[in-house]
Amino acid sequence: MDRFVINGGAALSGEVPTGGSKNAALPALAAALLTEEPVTLNRIPHVRDIRTMQRLLVDIGAKIDADGETVRLSTPEIVCPEAPYELVKTMRASSLVLGPLVARSGRARVSLPGGCAIGARPINLHISGLEQLGARISQAHGYIEAEAPEGLHGATVQFDRITVTGTEDLMMAAALAKGETILHNAAREPEVADLAELLIAMGARIEGAGTSTIRIEGVDKLGGADHTIIPDRIEAGTFLIAGAITSGDLTVTGCEPEHLGALVSKLQQTGVDVTQPGATTLRVRGGSTLRSADMTTEEYPGFATDLQAQYMALMTQAEGIALIVETIFENRFMHALELARMGANIRLDGKQAIVAGPRELTGAGVIASDLRASASLVLAALVARGETVIDRVYHIDRGYERIEAKLARVGAKIQRLE
Ligand code: EPU
Repeated sequence: MDRFVINGGAALSGEVPTGGSKNAALPALAAALLTEEPVTLNRIPHVRDIRTMQRLLVDIGAKIDADGETVRLSTPEIVCPEAPYELVKTMRASSLVLGPLVARSGRARVSLPGGCAIGARPINLHISGLEQLGARISQAHGYIEAEAPEGLHGATVQFDRITVTGTEDLMMAAALAKGETILHNAAREPEVADLAELLIAMGARIEGAGTSTIRIEGVDKLGGADHTIIPDRIEAGTFLIAGAITSGDLTVTGCEPEHLGALVSKLQQTGVDVTQPGATTLRVRGGSTLRSADMTTEEYPGFATDLQAQYMALMTQAEGIALIVETIFENRFMHALELARMGANIRLDGKQAIVAGPRELTGAGVIASDLRASASLVLAALVARGETVIDRVYHIDRGYERIEAKLARVGAKIQRLE
């Protein structure tokens, strides 16, 4: 198992590029199942979750050619409409094939995800939405089986709570359903809007993606398309925090500043200088005293839960008390205990974390527990005195492409031990 060895204390400076969004690329790959024609996707990041999704799609019947960041998929027929437990347990986003499979082939068998390091993560909202579109759903042996031999029909679906992949799953299913579907209380994340853009290029009729009401008029058939995935706002946000925590001067290139509004305004509240030198660049300059600022995670356009762990690392270096409230997942504070081992003063109380700073962090052996928790440990290690060894970095490889190489190029003392 790979490990990172990090020696803290270097201020990061220079330019660091943003890759394509993992969470936009995953549903885009699944969307290719909706048509027998070729779909070309550009700016696909080389991260483990993408490889897992591609393996799943190949088992289902897709043929995949990859050339750098461009992936070309074609699925002349669905060979096996199934997402097995072995894959779903390593990547919950596998449930994104549920909607496309039922819509295209009238049948899907997808393992239930079960527990997860960050919370329960059920898919009940995907399931009840598909039922409203006419799928018959049963559950046995840990699997969900969905059938719609006569095809799906449009419906009005009101999500009980906002779900990102649930919105994506239903949008894909509704694209091939008969008649109109309206999704109320839909997720407004940029990744949902990006998926809609791809589906529209494939011939789908969708309005309102990116708002909380999405209208989809089903069509008989979808065709091929060529689409470029949006930049990864979580990767870009992680780099902005890296610049801030190391009191550096870092320019994050190739990002979409509009998608980072909540983080940028929070960083500015803490005294970090963030400017936008170009349409797709953000520059962060640390150095002045960091002030604590409370933060509550919310659905987009609020502060992303996927940046909560990284923000907590930053708050260990800020003057005062920061109250961090996690509202999206019930168990997403695993990093707090590891940060405490490095010297942070953090008290957990249910869905709240109280961080008192600034505290000098010292290098230690720590364990990555999930993707974003690992990113927060990397950030803490960049500012800690001495050497930190982070174990189980396969978690970080799920969603960051060679983060050690990108950080080393801007001055971080970080090495991967294979
Ligand atoms: N929920 C339900 N029932 C459902 C679906 C969700 O109760 O059927 C609950 C979840 O348990 C959670 C909340 O609703 O408490 C929100 O979950 P959501 O469905 O929005 O999460 P997701 O779609 O599974 C995506 C991202 C996550 C990100 C969340 C929230 C992808 C592939 N994953 O997950 O990304 O944290 O939205 O923004 O898009 C990550 O990249 O590290 C990551 C975990």
